[in-house]
Amino acid sequence: MEGLHFCTSFYVYAEVFGDNHHGCFQKEVGYLYQRIKHIIMDSNETHTNPISMPRIGDIAPNFEAITTKGKLNLHDYAKGQWLVLFSHPADFTPVCTTEMSAFAKRKKEFEHLNTQLIGLSIDSIHSHIAWVQNVREKTWVYLDFPIIADLDMSVSKLYGMLQPNESETAAVRAVFFIDPELKVRLIMYYPLNVGRNMDEILRALKALQTADAHKVAMPVDWQPGDPVIVPPPKTLEDLDARLADKEIDMVDFYLAKKSL
Ligand code: BEZ
Repeated sequence: MEGLHFCTSFYVYAEVFGDNHHGCFQKEVGYLYQRIKHIIMDSNETHTNPISMPRIGDIAPNFEAITTKGKLNLHDYAKGQWLVLFSHPADFTPVCTTEMSAFAKRKKEFEHLNTQLIGLSIDSIHSHIAWVQNVREKTWVYLDFPIIADLDMSVSKLYGMLQPNESETAAVRAVFFIDPELKVRLIMYYPLNVGRNMDEILRALKALQTADAHKVAMPVDWQPGDPVIVPPPKTLEDLDARLADKEIDMVDFYLAKKSL
């Protein structure tokens, strides 16, 4: 089983890096695997499942999926928590392994922020299980969160994770931040060949939660503990209150910061 998945990953690599020096048997098998996958998906899915793109402020489109933790219905799974839903291109590939391991190592930090992780790639559940086990055996890191097996690309297409000019068979590296009211609050997209920054993902999540809790906004490069932006006054009375408030560091009435 692992051999076949290696070939799948190999094909995605050839697609990204060109196939100049990899003329081996695995590539041929990987290519055939992908073609067969495409033929099946073209006949079943392409016309009934157009690519869509949720936007910030939209209710996260619901779906049911098979994952490494069993069946998952997105809206039921959320249960009043934040969700970080992220895609990666393929199992058994190096950048993806570093990213997934980083999510796993920092899972507790996400949980402290009332946030559950959900991964996804266009691979089978068998591939996911073999890869999770392989990473555990080789590195002692356990990818202990649901990873969606999106072989029919239905979720990838629903969330605009499949971007055909980057790859027709692999999801790009997308991250959707979904709040407890199921609203999409922040979206990141990275290409196949650049891994994401885990500190930035956690920083963005903390920024969203702090902005909500205190009705403020976050300035450039904000880090937890830094001053935050106070919204501009909406009435003359608010302006007078602001001018009198010694806690507020005001450059002008529209640019003012305070410490929380
Ligand atoms: C990776 O995760 O290493 C990777 C996957 C697909 C294309 C390029 C890199």
